[in-house]
Amino acid sequence: MSTTTNEPGTGARPGMEDAVFEVGPMRSDPASVHDLSRRVQIRREGVGEKRYPFPIPNGWFVVDESRELAPGEHKNLYAFGKDLVLFRSESGEARLMDAYCPHLGAHIGVGGRVEGDGMRCPFHGWHFDGGGRCIDIPYAEGKAIPAKAKIRTYPIIESSHMIWAWHHLEGGEPFYDVPHIPEFEDPDWQPYETYEVEVATIAQEFAEGEFDVQHFKYVHGATPLPSTDMVVNGTYRHNSNGNFTIENFGLGCTLISVGDSIRIGQSLLPIDDENVRMRWWFTMPNSMGDAALKGLAANFLDGISQDIVIWENKRYEPKPLVTAVERNIRVGREWALQFYSGLDS
Ligand code: FES
Ligand SMILES: [Fe+2]
Repeated sequence: MSTTTNEPGTGARPGMEDAVFEVGPMRSDPASVHDLSRRVQIRREGVGEKRYPFPIPNGWFVVDESRELAPGEHKNLYAFGKDLVLFRSESGEARLMDAYCPHLGAHIGVGGRVEGDGMRCPFHGWHFDGGGRCIDIPYAEGKAIPAKAKIRTYPIIESSHMIWAWHHLEGGEPFYDVPHIPEFEDPDWQPYETYEVEVATIAQEFAEGEFDVQHFKYVHGATPLPSTDMVVNGTYRHNSNGNFTIENFGLGCTLISVGDSIRIGQSLLPIDDENVRMRWWFTMPNSMGDAALKGLAANFLDGISQDIVIWENKRYEPKPLVTAVERNIRVGREWALQFYSGLDS
């Protein structure tokens, strides 16, 4: 990615000019960021195999914007390899639960409705509370509700205008926090611009682009960040050249800051173990004006479009040939392992 304004064609990677797809010209229209014609259609290697040796990661991931979910509203969602129902209770709490009713398997979000702080199933009227527990079987006539009448729910936090859901493959509790980004709620900063796109890659590959400082030059035509200033602290890591800082909060959230002038939030929601929904939201101080904010988003998305063509066509190299100056790639991969359950080593 890059926040640098590039001239058309400067992002072309040496030696790739004659590749199956074309790199460039630059596009400033966010709607064209995800150009499926740039995905190689014929895969000859590894067909039928898993593309990545990782399960869906554990962490906090943005499932929607807070403003897009009104009290009493629900939406059906496919994420974490599961059918889910996202809803806002009548009193205003955002909730996320598995879609299928444990009674006879109806999809609760298709014909069901928000009731109180939970959902009422459309098939036989069972009512599940916000924690997923069945609290009413309308025709049970005083009989006890089975303890197994429960739907899995996911911890939710609303922060920086987004609804974040905690996913853990084995149902574990959150082990880090969603970052609070004060500029998104500061009246001296502009209302955010946002953009989202589905990409055939995984969150770890995106994070690796942040550890991989050399690609900034070849893919984006931009000056690499110094690779010496990478700090890893548990689930958090960051690198910075003093003015430009990239911070990762797990594999699902990144904050990009440029001095006192730019904040970019970023979330990578796993759709399954080979696809993510990427979202960015942007703000700048009011004094910089709306045109500057829109220009920032367009330039940033131009940079992302250059990454997408690499991500969607590359393969994962479990034993990469990295040079000494690229040691952050190894450090980053070791850091990422903590977000997966069930890996052998
Ligand atoms: S399937 Fe949901 S109440 Fe019967
Ligand atoms: Fe990049």
